[in-house]
Amino acid sequence: WRQLSLFGLLALALTGCGKDELSTLKPSGPVAAMQFDLMKLSSAIMIGVFIVVMLIFTYVLIRYRKRPGQQGIPKQVEGNHALEILWTVIPFLLLIVMAIPTVTTGFELHKEYSKEEALQVKVTAHQFWWEFEYPDLGVATAQDLVLPVGKKVQFHVTSADVMHAFWIPALGGKIDTNPGQENKIWLQADKTGTFYGKCAELCGASHALMDFKVEVMDQAAFDSWANGMKGVQAAEPVAATAASAAQGQEIFNKSCLGCHAVAGKGGKMGPNLTNFADRERVAGILAHTPENVAEWLKDPQKVKPGNNMPNLNLDDAQTKALVDYLQTLSVK
Ligand code: CUA
Repeated sequence: WRQLSLFGLLALALTGCGKDELSTLKPSGPVAAMQFDLMKLSSAIMIGVFIVVMLIFTYVLIRYRKRPGQQGIPKQVEGNHALEILWTVIPFLLLIVMAIPTVTTGFELHKEYSKEEALQVKVTAHQFWWEFEYPDLGVATAQDLVLPVGKKVQFHVTSADVMHAFWIPALGGKIDTNPGQENKIWLQADKTGTFYGKCAELCGASHALMDFKVEVMDQAAFDSWANGMKGVQAAEPVAATAASAAQGQEIFNKSCLGCHAVAGKGGKMGPNLTNFADRERVAGILAHTPENVAEWLKDPQKVKPGNNMPNLNLDDAQTKALVDYLQTLSVK
């Protein structure tokens, strides 16, 4: 019973994976649809094989059971050419049936699209966050991937530290992001809305927390977002006006700007924060509320163990000032 209830709990936990925006079973783009077709085909074949094998097994169990009065070992049968050929040819044919669509889909998914055909996005994985750059648009962001609907996106993926894997279950994937190497994958979203992405390669203490958001919008909204980002990132950071935010900006410039960029200034060690206030989540995982931003700033290791953000040992007033400043970082 204990094992059964554990199993039940596990099943319950797994139902959490059934969210549409995080499900491979509800594809929202052509790549995910092709991958889902392969899953359906191989699952159908596997289920078919399982059923046939179990039927034969059950038949044999009943047909050749020991009957009352039976003595000694039954007649032993060795070798049957017809049967042996049959059970070699059937799996061979089944493998062919799976291999043909798998290989053709594989080639389809590995097509590379030029910048005339697809939006180019460079993805860099870090412990434990995601950096997204649009080289042709002059835009860099982190944690929130913004995409136009119905358009091919050619991703160039790599890693700044260890191996991670880039995966947006509802759109397709996944692909390893390896340091010193560029892998490519194309994806397309066919509906607008919010999807979620995951790191799919064990990469350290906070691997499970290495999520990102994918916001798919129509082309006009995407263009206006990109133009807004581009304008801001070509300029110097704006001076905060409110007293507390201005104090926060001072702390930020002193302690954070070395690693985090805002507008056209700052380091690349940590996530670009130009549009921080527009993000739905803090650190990729917490709901974006001032309380959660404060919690993150007070003890980043508590929220995301093993990440590279140092504890700045801020007092409450400093934390509040910094939170106030971060809330001014919007391009909307
Ligand atoms: Cu990055 Cu797991």
